[in-house]
Amino acid sequence: MPATIIVGAQWGDEGKGKATDMLADTTDLVVRYQGGNNAGHTVIVGDQVFKLHLIPSGILYPNVTPVIADGVVVDPKVMLEELDGLQARGLDAFGRVKVSGNAHLIMPYHRELDLLTERRLGKNNLGTTKRGIGPAYADKASRVGLRFQDLFDEKIFRQKLEAVLVHKNEQLAKIYNRLPMDLEEIAREYLGYAERLRPLLSDTTDLIHRELEAGKHIILEGAQGTLLDLDHGTYPFVTSSNPVAGGALTGAGLGPTHVDRVIAITKAYVTRVGTGPFPTELFDDIGERMTDVGGEYGTTTGRRRRVGWFDAVLARYANRVNGFTDIFLTKLDVLSGFETLKIATGYRYQGEVYRHFPPHQSIFHHAEPVYEDFPGWGSDISEVERYEDLPQEARDYVDAIEEASDAPVTWVSIGPARAQTLIRRDVPLVPGV
Ligand code: IMP
Repeated sequence: MPATIIVGAQWGDEGKGKATDMLADTTDLVVRYQGGNNAGHTVIVGDQVFKLHLIPSGILYPNVTPVIADGVVVDPKVMLEELDGLQARGLDAFGRVKVSGNAHLIMPYHRELDLLTERRLGKNNLGTTKRGIGPAYADKASRVGLRFQDLFDEKIFRQKLEAVLVHKNEQLAKIYNRLPMDLEEIAREYLGYAERLRPLLSDTTDLIHRELEAGKHIILEGAQGTLLDLDHGTYPFVTSSNPVAGGALTGAGLGPTHVDRVIAITKAYVTRVGTGPFPTELFDDIGERMTDVGGEYGTTTGRRRRVGWFDAVLARYANRVNGFTDIFLTKLDVLSGFETLKIATGYRYQGEVYRHFPPHQSIFHHAEPVYEDFPGWGSDISEVERYEDLPQEARDYVDAIEEASDAPVTWVSIGPARAQTLIRRDVPLVPGV
């Protein structure tokens, strides 16, 4: 059975956890394919709230095997803390989670260098989560990274660590005037994790393909979002991996023919954390209200998110680079009570209007949005049970998002709970189910 990719269409935090939650009943594997504990997925099941950073949200469903695939970077300390937390809440996390031996490890010097690099950049910093994500991916590309499988081979682990630590310590001492890190201390800490983590070690590519061959269904769960993609996002204000649908293929070891569905998760407005351009950003009372009503504070860092109007230029671009089959629209309820809503349909720059994502970064940095106005709706919509019962203005707004994005809106979320999801197009997630 083919796989489904769940991908963030904006700058992350679109509500991917909720989408996975809704679709998890009909799936067998939920696979994280990139990123690390920079992500934050909030999932509400019944009256329980789970905040996950690294473990795929599939862990919350007994029928699902949660998989951390090759493309992810793993901080073993954080992973153990998360596993222990889930275990304490009655979930068999250690027994069920599978981690690829090829996933790269986030090491203590990665965290330190993330912090120091950001500090050195001063006002030009990227606003990273300081979890060591960028430095870990940089080492992977430089081929000096340590991988999850190395934890279980002390000789290799020490050999690799010794070789790389010489350079890291030179960097720490000569550039940042820091004390060197101690090889023995790191080795003791990391090799100390091995015993507890051994049951998780898995050939995840083999697992994924065996499941597909057996007719099982797989969700590939992205972290961050399209505009934070290293290649296709708003570089350099991006993360260091590929959240786009193509990243799901390389990250999990699949080909394009294994996938038949790419579900875009997008908010009914836009948010961004960290620095970087954001054409529709709001700095007024409307923005304040969106932040407060939407609870727009980061799950991982607690940072206040920047907010702005829905941007159709970005939505169309995201559709192009991902190939969406569906849109799962989230947080429509947050827009209740605004007199007028706006959607940016283009950017104005030096007298020209761009309907598509501009090829040069300067245009995007200085783009002035061209807005279309839509009447808002006054009533609270968070208790509505059928899509047809939404106010006409809300349905018109959803229609406008669909038209502007050029992809069908299948689900509309009007609150954090699972029941607060309206079905707009009745199409089965899994063919025949
Ligand atoms: P890094 O991924 O920690 O290197 O941070 C790079 C950029 O991605 C920064 O702007 C972060 O704020 C942003 N970022 C990383 N993870 C997330 C996320 O899960 N949601 C939203 N933004 C994120």
